[in-house]
Amino acid sequence: MLPTLATSNTFFRVLAIFNLFASLTSVHAATSYANDFVDPDYILAKDYGSSGSPAKLTIAGWARELAAKGPWTVTNKTATPPTGDKRTYMSWAPYWWPDCSQAGNTTALSDEQVWTTCRYISRDGIFNPDARLVVNDVGAFQDLSDAVLYNAISWALSNATSNEYSKNVVNFVNTWFLDETTGMLPNLDYAQQIRGPGDPKGSHTGVLDLKGMSKIVSGILILRKGNCPDWTSELDARMDDWSKRYITWLETADLAIEEALSTNNHGSFYYNQLAALYLLVNNNPAARNVTDTFFRGIYMNQIEANGEQPLEAARTRPYHYRAYNLAAMITNARIGIYAAPDAPSPFQFKTSQGATIQSALDFAITFKASDSKEDNYASELNPNVAAVAAEYGDPDGKYAGYLKVNEPDYPAEAWFLWNQPLSDSGLSAQASMSGVASGPEPTTSTRPSTGASDNGGVSVRNGGVAAILLGFLSASIALW
Ligand SMILES: *[C@@H]1O[C@H](CO)[C@@H](O)[C@H](O)[C@H]1NC(C)=O
Ligand SMILES: *[C@@H]1O[C@H](CO)[C@@H](O)[C@H](O)[C@H]1NC(C)=O
Ligand SMILES: *[C@@H]1O[C@H](CO)[C@@H](O)[C@H](O)[C@H]1NC(C)=O
Ligand SMILES: *[C@@H]1O[C@H](CO)[C@@H](O)[C@H](O)[C@H]1NC(C)=O
Repeated sequence: MLPTLATSNTFFRVLAIFNLFASLTSVHAATSYANDFVDPDYILAKDYGSSGSPAKLTIAGWARELAAKGPWTVTNKTATPPTGDKRTYMSWAPYWWPDCSQAGNTTALSDEQVWTTCRYISRDGIFNPDARLVVNDVGAFQDLSDAVLYNAISWALSNATSNEYSKNVVNFVNTWFLDETTGMLPNLDYAQQIRGPGDPKGSHTGVLDLKGMSKIVSGILILRKGNCPDWTSELDARMDDWSKRYITWLETADLAIEEALSTNNHGSFYYNQLAALYLLVNNNPAARNVTDTFFRGIYMNQIEANGEQPLEAARTRPYHYRAYNLAAMITNARIGIYAAPDAPSPFQFKTSQGATIQSALDFAITFKASDSKEDNYASELNPNVAAVAAEYGDPDGKYAGYLKVNEPDYPAEAWFLWNQPLSDSGLSAQASMSGVASGPEPTTSTRPSTGASDNGGVSVRNGGVAAILLGFLSASIALW
């Protein structure tokens, strides 16, 4: 059908609005970086260099966007865990599918009957959507960990004694971990459970579900060390108790020990969690011991002389997995430095083939995501590039140059705030001249869906800016 004059006018007005907002690129939908540890002392010192403004706006916007979705609790799921207690953390292995050929007519089986009577078979890399639709403790934890991190940083940025941001952190931590009726029991016995007949139990890969614990610990330490009155000594003591019980599980449960022995990113992320939790319980020597165990152990075989990570390159999505394990190694190094600032920096530690984290990054950036048809993961390396620039230096501007090409609005990334020093390539100044730094607050929009990673827990920045622009578009249409 041909457009009428009226609708075509509207079309051009919409187009004009679209072009206007297209020039304001420093607006991002909330995305979930694979992992990180943000030094609370750095955040509280408030010396972020001269170009932190777009990043600060992003962080505050994400804090509010995420907070609107919470609080989160494991008791929200409709399925009942094998323990009969909804406070049991539970997730389903994402690549396993029911085969009901030996269980009668599938159409006559209820969902619950399918989960417990059909055998489940692995179809590697093919994501079973019902593994997230019915039980989404993993997605909830990911949102929680980002919400705690960004609300805690936003509280620090505000210089307020107490405000919505700090109250959000307290509410979210209390609801997920501590509340008597909604608090998660401190174990992952039923994480990434493979459904089917017989005795249900979790998989060791499910330990990865809680890798974001290092973000939560960063957030709590910001409130604790910033003497936020909302983070009371009573809450602190209860979180300390919860963490100690979960540390015991991580150090003694068969599933957890099996995960610690994984030689690839699964092992690396295991150490992220355990080391961060030792910081939370005020045992920094033990935290450093954990990161040293990683760097003396599985790290030694994770990077080859040329910087390749063979255990990640062998996977179905090599671009993603190289970036993913880099995030885990960087997080272990940062926790190690925070726990023992005077000890040698793990960023200098060499693998048995003489490589460092920087070698791995330098190798990873020689690939394009599109080379292996992983366009959805195209920006996953960027926070790692920023971290390497900040930790090793960027004297010839190689890393800033990479970021400028790959993500022209990178100073508006949340990670830009804590990966300093790092050049903004002059982009922040341009952004504020075009009105972005003082312009619209970051708007809420659909969060990029969790990608089909091993735990389904990695979010990928894809089309975040485009999603925002579409948001403006539909808002504009609605206004007319
Ligand atoms: C609770 O579960 C429902 C689905 O049953 C979901 O739509 C909602 O987002 C969940 N709430 C939170 C805070 O996770
Ligand atoms: C399964 O049951 C449905 C009705 O419940 C029926 O239409 C269908 O033919 C049955 N299929 C088999 C293979 O028996
Ligand atoms: C918070 O205090 C720091 C100095 O400690 C200052 O640079 C910053 O502008 C202040 N922020 C706000 C929002 O007042
Ligand atoms: C350090 O870690 C090792 C395991 O790698 C453990 O056996 C040892 O007890 C730990 N030491 C301290 C002081 O925590």
